[in-house]
Amino acid sequence: MAAKHFKYVILGGGVAAGYAAREFAKQGVKPGELAIISKEAVAPYERPALSKGYLFPQGAARLPGFHVCVGSGGERLLPEWYTEKGIELILSMEIVKADVTSKTLTSAAGATFTYDILIIATGSTVIRLSDFGVQGADANNIFYLREIDDADKLVAAIQAKKNGKAVIVGGGYIGLELGSALRINNLDVTMVYPEPWCMPRLFTSGIAAFYEGYYANKGIKIIKGTVAVGFDSNANGDVTAVKLKDGRVLDADIVVVGVGGRPLTALFKGQLVEEKGGIKTDGFFRTSIPGVYAVGDVATFPMKLYNDIRRVEHVDHARKSAEQAIKAIKASEEGKDIEEYDYLPFFYSRAFDLSWQFYGDSVGDTVLFGDNDPASAKPKFGSYWIKDGKVVGTFLEGGSAEENKAIAKVARVQPPAGDLEQLTKEGITFACKI
Ligand code: FDA
Ligand code: NAD
Repeated sequence: MAAKHFKYVILGGGVAAGYAAREFAKQGVKPGELAIISKEAVAPYERPALSKGYLFPQGAARLPGFHVCVGSGGERLLPEWYTEKGIELILSMEIVKADVTSKTLTSAAGATFTYDILIIATGSTVIRLSDFGVQGADANNIFYLREIDDADKLVAAIQAKKNGKAVIVGGGYIGLELGSALRINNLDVTMVYPEPWCMPRLFTSGIAAFYEGYYANKGIKIIKGTVAVGFDSNANGDVTAVKLKDGRVLDADIVVVGVGGRPLTALFKGQLVEEKGGIKTDGFFRTSIPGVYAVGDVATFPMKLYNDIRRVEHVDHARKSAEQAIKAIKASEEGKDIEEYDYLPFFYSRAFDLSWQFYGDSVGDTVLFGDNDPASAKPKFGSYWIKDGKVVGTFLEGGSAEENKAIAKVARVQPPAGDLEQLTKEGITFACKI
C-alpha cells in the first residue's frame, strides 16, 4: 500500500484536534493539505460532555449536538464541515507506529501516512486497576470513561441496572462527576477513595467538606482512606462486589473507576524529548524535532506566568494550545513572529446543580469565604490562594458569569492580599473590585 501524504497531519481526533482544524481553516488551508487521524469513529467533540449531559436520564446530549467548537460558544464543526474545507477526517484508524525521521505514521492494519508537519494531539488514556494487579478488575460492568464508546457502554449499563447499586472508585474529577451522574439516574451510589478528602490535587479540606456534605445530602455514601483491592463476580462474569483494603465488602451492580489519566506519548518514546510525563515543547508547542508539534494533554510547556514548565489535562488548555500551535505554524511559514503562549490555568466542573471555576495556581496559604453550608438553598463560596502576599489562585462555586470573570482577573493580576481576615470578610467583593 502506498503511503498517503499530507502537508499537515493532526494525530488524534479529540478536543485539541478539532480546535486546531478550525484554526487551520481560519488561517487558510488548501483542500487535501490537512488530515486528522483518529482512532475514534466520530469527528472531534467536546469530551467534557461525556461525564455530564451525555449521562442525563432525560434530554441527554448526543452527537452531533456537541461536536467542537460548541463548548466555547463557537461554530459547531459537523463532519460535513471538514469535507467542505477539504480536510480529511481519517476515523477509526489507530496509529501504532510513528517514525519522526522518515515522517511516517503506520496503522495497525499497515496503512502508512507521511507528513511535512505533525501535530501530536493524542490526549490521555485512563489508568486501569488491572495496571496495578487488582484482582478481578476485568469483570463485566466495571467501567472507565475516556471516549464516547466508553460512555455508550456505561449508558447501556445504567439502563440495564435500574435502581441498582453503583460503586465509584476514585475521588477526583471522574469520581465526583460520575457520582452525581449515577445518583441522578437513581442508582444507590457509594464512593471510595484513599485520601482524607476528595479532589486533594486542587481542593482544600474546606472546599472538599462542602462537596462531601452536599453529596451526602443527596444520599451518596463516601468511604475515605481505603482502596479497592479486588472484585467478586458471578457465573456470567458480572461484577457483584468490591472488596476494600480495610476489609469491607460493597455490593455492586456497576463500578466506575476514575483513578487518573496518563498522557499518550508512547509512540514517540526515545524520539522526542519528554519532561514531567509529557512531550516537552516551547511556547509555540514545537517539540525537540523540527516540524513536530504537541498540544493538549500530552504537551509539557512553559508556563510563563509561573516561570516553570507544566502539563495541563483540561479542556481550556487543549483548545488554546491547539490554536497557538497552528498560529505558530502559519506564522513561521510567512516568516512572521507571534507572542509566546501565556496561559492562565482554568479548570471547572459541574455536578448536580453545582458549578465551580478555578483560575491560577493552587499554592500557598488559603482563605475560605462565603456561604459553604451544603444545606443552603443557593450556596455560593470560594477560596483564594495567597503566595508571597499576593492572591495567585481563585476558586468560586455558584458564581455568576461576571463574578467568574472577576476571579479570573484576580488570578492573572495577582493583587496584594492585604489582611487575610479582611480578605475573608470581603470574599467575592474583593475580586469584583480588581
Ligand atoms: P483528547 O483525549 O480530547 O483527544 C485525543 C484523541 O486522540 C482521541 O480521539 C483519541 O482516540 C486519539 N488517539 C490517541 N492515540 C491515538 C492513536 N495512536 N491513533 C489514533 N488516534 C489516537 N476538562 C475540563 O477542563 N473540564 C471538564 O469538565 C472536563 N471533563 C472531562 C470529562 C471526561 C469524561 C474526560 C475524559 C475528560 C474531561 N476533561 C475536562 C479533560 C479534557 O477533556 C481533556 O483535557 C481534553 O480532552 C484534552 O484534549 P486532547 O485533544 O489533548 O485529547
Ligand atoms: P484525577 O487525577 O482527577 O483523580 C484521580 C483520583 O483517583 C485521586 O484523587 C484519588 O482519589 C483516586 N485514586 C488514586 N488511586 C486510587 C486507588 N487505587 N483506588 C481508589 N482511588 C484512587 O483523575 P480522574 O478523575 O480519573 O480524571 C482522569 C482525567 O480526566 C484527568 O486528566 C482529568 O483532568 C480529566 N477530567 C477532567 C475533568 C474536569 O476538568 N472537570 C472531568 C473529568 C475528567
